[in-house]
Amino acid sequence: MFVVKANAYGHGAELCALAAEKSRAADWLGVSSVEEGVALRDAGVRLPILTLGSLYPFESVLAAVAYDLTPIVASLESAKRLVEVALKLKRRVDCHVKVDTGMGRIGAGPEAALSVVRRLSQEKVVRVQGLYTHLAGAEDDAAFTAEQLRRLRRVVSALEREGLRPPLVHAANSAGALKRPASRLDLVRPGLAVYGLYPGFSPALTLKSKIVFLKTVPKGALISYGGTWRARRVARIATLPIGYGDGYARALSNRADVLVDGRRCRVVGRVTMDQTMIDVTNVPRARVGDDAVLIGAQGRERVEAAELARLCGTIPYETAAGLSARVPRLAVGGAA
Ligand SMILES: Cc1ncc(COP(=O)(O)O)c(C=O)c1O
Repeated sequence: MFVVKANAYGHGAELCALAAEKSRAADWLGVSSVEEGVALRDAGVRLPILTLGSLYPFESVLAAVAYDLTPIVASLESAKRLVEVALKLKRRVDCHVKVDTGMGRIGAGPEAALSVVRRLSQEKVVRVQGLYTHLAGAEDDAAFTAEQLRRLRRVVSALEREGLRPPLVHAANSAGALKRPASRLDLVRPGLAVYGLYPGFSPALTLKSKIVFLKTVPKGALISYGGTWRARRVARIATLPIGYGDGYARALSNRADVLVDGRRCRVVGRVTMDQTMIDVTNVPRARVGDDAVLIGAQGRERVEAAELARLCGTIPYETAAGLSARVPRLAVGGAA
């Protein structure tokens, strides 16, 4: 299952979902909400889609079923709601039951999950197709991950004894799938690894802009709001039409580098909502219309999302997921 929630971690959910479907790279897609799932169906995506978040209110369960999304059930309450919807729409509905084995976000505890599956097994209109959990520390906490898997296994064993084991039992996110083989089970749900954001993978994303304005400023010139950057010499300053309104964080002001002609150029002055200035004094060949790479490689240089994330005191996933809707996404290479 490719997790394509949050606009595919900023990469463009429709684009990524359609690419996954066309290339048969995934059998399932995972989204966080009905709205995300509906957008994919409207874009023509046909793969099964699991809505990983809790559905509320009643109308969103109706929409999930109407759009052929597979809802999750995380409590007896939501199980009852799903049965009502299935009866109302006169449709047989598949669902996955979410067990909280230690993440503490959503999900029925192991005992409650057993009750939910037993309860739904008595309903003709709803089939429990899956049972799953989410790992809280697969990356660096082997012991807690093992404990979470033990808790899940206990639920599965009890259901097996009663002949109620759902066909798909799953637990692994990227870290689980890659570092904890015992978590692979019937399917895995990577997000980070799919986009190459997991350590050791090649990032799929390049964030590019272009120089739209270029000027030479005298020594002492101030750049952008608040004059936080002052030219220490005559400098060539390029303006890029990208800013924090696009998801290029304001915290990168005066700190991040952008690649032009394969060279690192420092962001100068504050990043504004729509535009960002960089110092291209050391790139005499720079011209209006040149590519500027904010995340990704150019020539031998590379700026990784992780580098920007560090400057912002966050993680690369937030940097990628924060790219806003107005940045056009284009599929290139094998993904096109
Ligand atoms: C339920 C669930 N499964 C899978 C994933 C994918 O995780 P990752 O991006 O770490 O691979 C997420 C993302 O947080 C999630 O919430």
